Amino acid sequence: MGFDLDGANVVITGGGGGIGSAMARRFAAAGARVVVADLDADAVTAVAKETGGVAVPGDAASEAGVRRLIATAVDEFGVVDLYCANAGVAPEGGPEAAEASWAQAWDVNVMAHVRAAELLLPSWLERCRGRFLATVSSAGMLSMLGSAPYAVTKHGALAFAEWLSIAYRHRGITVQALCPQGVRTSMLTEAGQGVRSLVEPTAISPEQVAETVVAAFADDPFLILPHPEIVDYYRARAADTGRWIAGMNQLQRKIEKM
Ligand SMILES: NC(=O)c1ccc[n+]([C@@H]2O[C@H](COP(=O)([O-])OP(=O)(O)OC[C@H]3O[C@@H](n4cnc5c(N)ncnc54)[C@H](O)[C@@H]3O)[C@@H](O)[C@H]2O)c1
Repeated sequence: MGFDLDGANVVITGGGGGIGSAMARRFAAAGARVVVADLDADAVTAVAKETGGVAVPGDAASEAGVRRLIATAVDEFGVVDLYCANAGVAPEGGPEAAEASWAQAWDVNVMAHVRAAELLLPSWLERCRGRFLATVSSAGMLSMLGSAPYAVTKHGALAFAEWLSIAYRHRGITVQALCPQGVRTSMLTEAGQGVRSLVEPTAISPEQVAETVVAAFADDPFLILPHPEIVDYYRARAADTGRWIAGMNQLQRKIEKM
């Protein structure tokens, strides 16, 4: 139990900005060697330069993209000690959201995790050691007003992380799910005004999230909760789901008036 970042080989997707770049900086400061991947080539190159790491610009969700990323990391490091499946997208809308938006949310928020795990597990199981950190969201434990693709796929990401941990924890694989509520990144800036006004008062910085992650490497809780109050909402949802939905609907009506 516990994980020493000093000398660890870490891959971070969505490492060009927000939570991913904050984790890259924090992990590198603790002595980790980082490979950062992002669609935004300039941003990820800058983060790699700053952290002494390696940039992998491009898609880190498609089968080919994940394969290329992990091959680069293995070339650089030999082994990947920690894989952070952090890239995410949050298209707005309900069932009327475009097919392409639903497909992209599945691809980036869920299938990218599945594809990475498939490639990483053989060497991790051989070594009896490996770490998978899924950046999920409180939306994976609760819901997300204004974005059905996000709410649904983040539940999928959490379910996959749970499944991985259930299947492999006795074989040395540590899986953790990072589930923050609002974090001050471009994802929050680009959210609808209603959601922003609900989330912004308790939003934290990406650096605070990275700090919480590092603290959670000491005792490896499955859920990493930078907003600990989420647990109370999660309990309330489980105890009386209908009542919880009615409460969420109150919030929905509130943002509709904004
Ligand atoms: N900001 C929040 O309030 C919040 C809250 C909970 C969870 N999250 C989650 O945190 C993670 C990071 O988001 P963030 O808040 O830092 O937002 P962000 O938009 O700053 O960062 C996301 C990064 O992922 C990259 N990305 C998107 N699709 C990609 C792909 N296919 N391949 C490679 N890179 C890709 C983007 O270019 C971007 O740099 C996401 O999974 C998000 O869902 C964010």
